[in-house]
Amino acid sequence: MKTLAIYNLKGGVGKTAAAVNLAYLAAQSGLHTVLWDLDPQGAATWYLHGDTAKAPDKAVWRGSSPIGRRIVETPYDNLHLIPADLETRHLDVWLRKDDNSHDRLRALIEPLSEQYSLVVLDCPPSLSHVADNVFAAADRILVPTVPTHLSLRALMTLIDYFKANELPRARLRPFWSMADRRRGLHRGLIEQPPKAMKDVCAAVIPYAASVERMGETRAPLEVSEPSSYAAECYRALWAENANYLRRG
Ligand SMILES: Nc1ncnc2c1ncn2[C@@H]1O[C@H](COP(=O)(O)OP(=O)(O)OP(=O)(O)O)[C@@H](O)[C@H]1O
Ligand SMILES: [Mg+2]
Repeated sequence: MKTLAIYNLKGGVGKTAAAVNLAYLAAQSGLHTVLWDLDPQGAATWYLHGDTAKAPDKAVWRGSSPIGRRIVETPYDNLHLIPADLETRHLDVWLRKDDNSHDRLRALIEPLSEQYSLVVLDCPPSLSHVADNVFAAADRILVPTVPTHLSLRALMTLIDYFKANELPRARLRPFWSMADRRRGLHRGLIEQPPKAMKDVCAAVIPYAASVERMGETRAPLEVSEPSSYAAECYRALWAENANYLRRG
């Protein structure tokens, strides 16, 4: 089993859109996949028709019963969901409950390997204790990065944080997100990526109305608009990460 996190400390950069689309593509390729919505906003849960109204299961969040109890089905084969609910806002505190360990999330995820080949984490936008746990649990961390200076700054902060805390930088894999090639700045940064983007994914996710429409269709692009250019780009993003994520 592999764990893929979609993370950026910056908000609104396309994390959830990528998490839902990549999790769907993984499931469609035959991988038993579970998307864990770690963000109390619950956007991934909403896209996948998860039930956020269900009473929160505090025993699970507190770690006294397995996280598997929270798993629900989605409308799609091979794709299950651990929905977010309002209790998810306490995750930071609960992960810190016994000690300050960063391995708590990894321990919660581990038993899922009996049933799943891939766990996709849709992360909230913060550099919190939850994020520390995500960095310890994830085999690969995709970082959606908008081709702007502020977005690059967020990526550099993350890279510096990895260095300062001796975390493996190789796990971080940025990709261009919400790219608008009509804008000179976007074009320039994509064509001549700065040093922080040295291992950027080849696939570039465009700024596209079809992605915005996922809010109406509540479905992955591969289902709602498979012939759109953005759907093709998510397929390319999945394809270039799939080999690694399929292994073991
Ligand atoms: N490639 C894209 N093109 C156009 N709009 C996009 C694209 N990706 C995401 N959006 C829109 O931008 C908004 C934020 O996207 P999304 O929720 O995926 O970002 P996020 O990084 O998960 O945000 P948050 O930090 O709040 O969790 C949404 O309204 C979404 O529909
Ligand atoms: Mg999100």
